[in-house]
Amino acid sequence: MTGGTVSPDVRVFPDLEALSDAAAAWVADGLEESAAAHGRASFVLSGGSTPTLLYERLATRFKDRVPWRQLHVFWSDERYVPYSDRLSNYRMAKETILNQVPIPPHQVHPMPTHFAAPLEAAREYESVVTEFFAGRPPIFDVTLLGLGADGHTASVFADSPALASAHVALAVTAPADPPSRLTLTLPVLVRGRRVGVLVSGASKVVALAASLSGRDPNLPGAVLARTASTLVWWVDRDACGRDN
Ligand code: 6PG
Repeated sequence: MTGGTVSPDVRVFPDLEALSDAAAAWVADGLEESAAAHGRASFVLSGGSTPTLLYERLATRFKDRVPWRQLHVFWSDERYVPYSDRLSNYRMAKETILNQVPIPPHQVHPMPTHFAAPLEAAREYESVVTEFFAGRPPIFDVTLLGLGADGHTASVFADSPALASAHVALAVTAPADPPSRLTLTLPVLVRGRRVGVLVSGASKVVALAASLSGRDPNLPGAVLARTASTLVWWVDRDACGRDN
């Protein structure tokens, strides 16, 4: 949606389970379509807890529809902790999807968290993404994002340099635990062929409404809503504040 002239594509489901099933089918379709058209497909995984059920669906119910051997997996952001840490987005993805599917290991591109300086890690990831896209502006085939209760997405928080950076990836300090994070920048995230934002639970009512209304134009969720080319909001009733 560009320029705010088109109404957002908001798909409401009774609960997280129904949301995850529908969004998993949409992800599988997008990856199949890209693999058929381009011989490969790129998939950006979000962190947090909301996508875990969707990941499990991709590894089970939709396993045969995803072109794993042609798939390259990236991350929208990462907490700057060892991969073994329970807070690691890479660890969560390994446990919920990657350990269960036949994706070639060299096609899994986690954000590095072993450099002494997170800035070096961000530069390394930027070169991985830039090489994958052969120097052209990155356009990921399917990008999954979440929305924090404060309206952040990936690890792009309010007033973040990652809101409008020319970089592909940045090391940032987040007002969340852990504060040290790596994130793809919002201009990269919004350029995806298919961008989906998963929003579940009553804690997200305010952030979702603020993102869709645009009343705080600098809220990362609102920037996403205003600038993403093909954006689908996958939300449940609780996140919409609907109690029926
Ligand atoms: C992260 C995510 C982050 C997440 C939101 C929502 O690393 O935490 O990338 O942007 O998507 O904070 O998190 P929940 O899904 O846990 O509510």
